Amino acid sequence: MINVNFALIGCGRISAKHFEAIEQIEGAKVIACADTIPQRAIDSAKKYNIKSHYTDYKKMLNSEKIDAVIICTPSGMHPQMGIEAAKSKLHVITEKPMAIDLNSADALVKACDENQVKLFVVKQNRLNPSIQLLKKAIDKGRFGRLFSANATVRWARPQSYYDLAKWRGTWEFDGGAFMNQASHYFDLIQWMMGPVDAVMAFTATLNHSIETEDMGTGIIRFRSGALGTVEVTMNTFPKNLEGSITIMGENGTVKIGGIAVNQIEHWDFKDYDDDDKLIETAKTDPKSIYGFGHQGYLQNVVDVIRGEDTANTDGRSGRKSLELILALYRSAKLGKKVALPLK
Ligand SMILES: NC(=O)c1ccc[n+]([C@@H]2O[C@H](COP(=O)([O-])OP(=O)(O)OC[C@H]3O[C@@H](n4cnc5c(N)ncnc54)[C@H](O)[C@@H]3O)[C@@H](O)[C@H]2O)c1
Repeated sequence: MINVNFALIGCGRISAKHFEAIEQIEGAKVIACADTIPQRAIDSAKKYNIKSHYTDYKKMLNSEKIDAVIICTPSGMHPQMGIEAAKSKLHVITEKPMAIDLNSADALVKACDENQVKLFVVKQNRLNPSIQLLKKAIDKGRFGRLFSANATVRWARPQSYYDLAKWRGTWEFDGGAFMNQASHYFDLIQWMMGPVDAVMAFTATLNHSIETEDMGTGIIRFRSGALGTVEVTMNTFPKNLEGSITIMGENGTVKIGGIAVNQIEHWDFKDYDDDDKLIETAKTDPKSIYGFGHQGYLQNVVDVIRGEDTANTDGRSGRKSLELILALYRSAKLGKKVALPLK
């Protein structure tokens, strides 16, 4: 078995999911970590038994014998760090979103192509058992013609969440509720329904002191002719209520809900399929909205690096939801319908 050694940049909130997941993967190890806040890198190294820690990630890339780098820094930093890693001939795993503008996302894809390294964008919700079962039903054609899709993210984020770090709620490093909190939902809706033709959106900042939106609604027309709606808010009183996706077609209606697309709330098809027996076991109850998916996601990364699988979400796949979100932002700004692909 080929051993895979990782380094991780950005030892903040989401990094724990990566450290814990890699501990469970045979032959995989995080051997170095970096954070500009020295204590965070020191604490992570201690907790997860990591050989080296750094404050300067470039120094880490140049000093360690690693195969791949996991980027868990503020979103606007992902492309530049990924490009540096690619130039060092390292595979790149970037947390979502891969970037917050298309030019830098494209530069990252290009750098990984040119240096012949793989690029992975973490979209772990695709691996929720409920979502996998729904995707399988779509791929088997059980819905017949797809008519409509809805994504609803009704979560609560206090001002103290945005105040945790300076990058949160900024246009330069984060984006708003669409770009950050709902990015998995935009990924799922386009993954299920296919390419997007055009969008319209409204966004608003009603309940927080941040630059970006804390809520927004959007309408999507898919190239197939199907329609989609999205409702995203971080202003739900008093706590997270729902993170759901509903797909409706000629011969089927499915709603995957719970607080983070983890429960099958409705599953109804015209024709029976043995998969119908799996709906109870596909329900999960994660303690956090991040879910259980990082484990499976990183297992896939390791398998791809070993040449045993293809990527669950590569750079080009991760770019699609980014383009959709940016189109919605453009529509909200211009007050007009926006067609894809974006120029
Ligand atoms: N997949 C998911 O469901 C999921 C969930 C949460 C966050 N995320 C993504 O993960 C990323 C990080 O989010 P977070 O909540 O962990 O943020 P965070 O602020 O808790 O952590 C970011 C860390 O990066 C460090 N950092 C900043 N600049 C750095 C630099 N130049 N070099 C090294 N370290 C640097 C910060 O000091 C901080 O410790 C974001 O892009 C976010 O969208 C994904």
